[in-house]
Amino acid sequence: MPETASPVVEDAPAKINLALHVTGKRPDGYHLLESLVVFTRLGDRLTATPGHDCFEISGPFGHGLRADESNLVIKARDAFPARPSVKLMLEKNLPLASGIGGGSSDASATLRALARLSGFAGDLFGIGAKLGADVPMCLAAKPLIAKGVGEMLAPVSGMPELAMVLVNPGVHVATPDVFRGLATIQNASLAPLPNRLDLPRLVAWLRESRNDLQATAERLAPAITETMAALQHTGPAFARMSGSGATCFGIYESASTAENAARTIRLSQPGWFVAATPTMT
Ligand code: C5P
Repeated sequence: MPETASPVVEDAPAKINLALHVTGKRPDGYHLLESLVVFTRLGDRLTATPGHDCFEISGPFGHGLRADESNLVIKARDAFPARPSVKLMLEKNLPLASGIGGGSSDASATLRALARLSGFAGDLFGIGAKLGADVPMCLAAKPLIAKGVGEMLAPVSGMPELAMVLVNPGVHVATPDVFRGLATIQNASLAPLPNRLDLPRLVAWLRESRNDLQATAERLAPAITETMAALQHTGPAFARMSGSGATCFGIYESASTAENAARTIRLSQPGWFVAATPTMT
């Protein structure tokens, strides 16, 4: 018997890899990573209502997505133990296959929603890890350092709210292609974070870090280089590609400078996805 019969709504925030170091490879082919990760207020939204099983997708990026077993929402639903029948609605606000964890975040929102509907108190992280390497961190949805293939999570306290702009040029980059194209996989670990994480200290730390996937992703999708140039042109405190791309982010001194930057990029590239959003602390 469900604990509640009313709909539950779960946010599926975008996952941003502020830094991503590739430090090795497991025998199964998955890469070992060390990543500083934050989540944005902007995201998809998942609504789960007790009722007949069905799945509907809406939102600006909903048209590109199949509402079948290939969708991580359905995979998460079907992986949930002793689940109730449920109508799932996904508002897809994030671009697809774009390095900001959209599908993983949708899967984690589905697991959270089903847990709320059914009163499940078991281990969502264990279920999530089987769905994708980024699902556990999306279940946490807080600033963190992820290691292993993404399943070893350490929360980061004191992360300031960041005024961020996300830019995606509309090209899809296949994550396996990027990993396969890496010239080196044994790169240095992340440096320890500073004790106090204000914006200048964070930016200084970020300048000493890398996204080890970026050079390969730019080679596979030159539009990423163009995206980075458009961000750099607006004078961010810092800019980089997230995940395996193609979405890039800029960090700005304030929400208003971020909004201005987003406006500038939108004007010059009306076909791109451009969004100013604060991160969650
Ligand atoms: O786990 P997920 O399905 O999100 O990963 C997609 C692909 O990205 C994997 O099949 C693998 O090729 C690559 N990958 C990797 N190392 C990771 C995460 C993903 O090689 N840590």
